[in-house]
Amino acid sequence: MSNLPHHIAIVMDGNGRWATRRFLPRVAGHKKGVDALRACVRHCGDIGVKVLTVFAFSSENWNRPAEEVSGLMELLALALSREVPQLQSEGVRIHFIGERSGLSEKVRNGLAQAEAATAGNSRLVFNICFNYGGRWDIAQAAAGLAARGEAITEQSLDRAMALAHVPDPDLLIRTGGEKRISNFLLWQAAYSELYFTDKLWPEFDAAAIDEAIADYSGRERRFGRTSEQVAAPGGAKKRKAA
Ligand code: IPE
Ligand code: IPE
Ligand code: MG
Repeated sequence: MSNLPHHIAIVMDGNGRWATRRFLPRVAGHKKGVDALRACVRHCGDIGVKVLTVFAFSSENWNRPAEEVSGLMELLALALSREVPQLQSEGVRIHFIGERSGLSEKVRNGLAQAEAATAGNSRLVFNICFNYGGRWDIAQAAAGLAARGEAITEQSLDRAMALAHVPDPDLLIRTGGEKRISNFLLWQAAYSELYFTDKLWPEFDAAAIDEAIADYSGRERRFGRTSEQVAAPGGAKKRKAA
C-alpha cells in the first residue's frame, strides 16, 4: 500500500453503544471490542504498520459505574492470559502505557508478564494505553525532569514521555462518531492526521482500517510549511528544521 502510516493510534470508542443497541450489557460490547482489537493488531502487522497505539481505558473511565470498571479490569486480565501467546508468535511487542499504581496487583503482574514475554519481538510495537491520560503523561514527564533537576525543554519532555520509544503517530483514528480527543495523545498528536468514523469499535474490521489508511494516504502533510515547499525535492515528511 502506498504511503503507509508508520504509527497508527486509535481511540476505540463505541463498545457500549454496540451492546446497548443489541439489548446486551455494556461489558458484552467490551468483549466484542477485544475481538476487533485482535483482528486489528493482526491486520496492522500483516500490512507492515510498525507501531499501533490504542486507548483502552482512560484516567476518566474510573468515573463509570463500578460494575463496568470491574468488568473492564477482569477483561484485561483475561485477555492478557489468553492473547499473549498468540501475539508472541506473531512478533508483537507489547507495552503498557499509563499509571500502574492505581491498578490491582493481579492486573499489574499481568501487564509486566506480557511485556516481559514479548520483549524480544520487533515486527509490530503494540502500545496499550490503560489508565492513561495525555495530561497525566505530560505531568509525569515534567515531574520526572524536575526531580532530576533537568531543564524542561520540548526535547527533554519528549524523551520523558511514556511514548518516547516510538515516533509520533502519523494517523489517529477515532471510531464511534465522536469528534474529540478525550485526553488521548495530547502531546504526540500535534501533527497526526485525524480520521473520524461513525463505525462503532466492535464493527471496525480490516476493511475499515484499509479505508482509513487510503484516506490518510491522499493527504498532504505540511508540518507548518507551504505546499510548494513540501512538493520540492526532499521537502516532505519533515516535522522540524534540522
Ligand atoms: C470505548 O467504548 C471503550 C472504553 C472507554 C473502555 P465505550 O464504552 O466508551 O462505548 P460508548 O461510547 O459508550 O458507546
Ligand atoms: C475515550 O472514550 C477513552 C477510550 C476509548 C478508552 P470515552 O468514551 O471515555 O470518551 P468520552 O467520555 O466520550 O469523551
Ligand atoms: Mg465512549
